[in-house]
Amino acid sequence: MDNQDDSIQIQELKKKNRILQKKLERCETERHQLETDIGTKEFLLKKVICELEDSRTDLQHRSQELENTLDSLHKMQAQMIQSEKMSALGQMVAGIAHEINNPVSFIYGNLSHIKQYTHDLLRLVELYHRYFPNPPAEIQTERKTIDLDFLEKDAIMVLNSMNIGTERIRDIVLSLRNFSRLDESEFKAVDIHEGIDNTLMILQHRIKATDKSPEIQIIRDYGNISNVECYAGQLNQVFMNILVNALDALEELNTKRTYQEIRDHPSRITIRTSVVDLEWVKIAITDNGSGIRESIQKQIFNPFFTTKPVGKGTGMGMAISYQIITKKHGGKLEFFSTPGKGTEFVVQIPIQQKFCLII
Ligand SMILES: Nc1ncnc2c1ncn2[C@@H]1O[C@H](COP(=O)(O)OP(=O)(O)OP(=O)(O)O)[C@@H](O)[C@H]1O
Ligand SMILES: [Mg+2]
Repeated sequence: MDNQDDSIQIQELKKKNRILQKKLERCETERHQLETDIGTKEFLLKKVICELEDSRTDLQHRSQELENTLDSLHKMQAQMIQSEKMSALGQMVAGIAHEINNPVSFIYGNLSHIKQYTHDLLRLVELYHRYFPNPPAEIQTERKTIDLDFLEKDAIMVLNSMNIGTERIRDIVLSLRNFSRLDESEFKAVDIHEGIDNTLMILQHRIKATDKSPEIQIIRDYGNISNVECYAGQLNQVFMNILVNALDALEELNTKRTYQEIRDHPSRITIRTSVVDLEWVKIAITDNGSGIRESIQKQIFNPFFTTKPVGKGTGMGMAISYQIITKKHGGKLEFFSTPGKGTEFVVQIPIQQKFCLII
């Protein structure tokens, strides 16, 4: 009986064992299946993460590209505004020069004739006087009234000073024409000193004495430099921008000084030109104005950077000058400044343009 019970129990245990084995096998399969699923999902997840990383990098690139495009658009816009401004100024200057030129030529052309006529008339009066020393009373009275002796001397002096005056106006007109140089959009070998002098002539109204400050001293220390191949009109714009900034800096400093203080330490702009070597020339423009604070020195050539009040400065002068010197002439533009003491801008350009890239 016992033996039979044992056998039944063994049978049952075997059966249970088989069932358990089957269950174990099923679990194994399921575990395997799950493992495969997890592997696949993990792989997919990694792939998605990789793709996300790629698109993030791509987005970063694109936003950088957009930033660069925006930056160059800003620069281009700034350049267009400035060149528009300068070409409008050039056209206006050329227009004024042309309008003044006609009437002045008219006066200048006729001055030599009027001088001749005056001489002739005075000689005739002199002859009358010699042959008729005792004219009627009316003529004698008139002679006294007009003070003929004085008139004879003064008429010639008046005509001479009119001659000098019209010659001066002709010089100014010539400077204005040279400054605008609208006709010269190409490279040409020009006398840099002429460009600087013409620019100074145009700025004369800001250099001369006012009731608040004495005349600004302009020191021209010109070296013996040969003609330089350049876009003359554009180079004149650079001189104009640097000189106007120097005048602004002097004016700023002078608002804090009395007339006497300015007189004791006069405002001064020094322009030095020199040959660097066989290939390069240097133009240094120094002022003893307010100077540039250390903290903003890095920004001076940035488009739109200005410390001047709204309406006075656009912050484009130096950005454009930098472009003109470095990009258009393959040159260098740098500055050195000590706040409270003054600033020096140094332009260096090749005498001939054969070595530089022109855009
Ligand atoms: N000689 C100088 N002395 C002192 N500060 C200067 C001098 N030159 C330039 N700066 C500084 O550099 C800034 C930028 O000059 P930039 O000529 O580009 O612009 P701006 O003179 O302000 O305006 P604009 O576009 O009308 O020339 C000026 O606002 C000024 O602060
Ligand atoms: Mg300026």
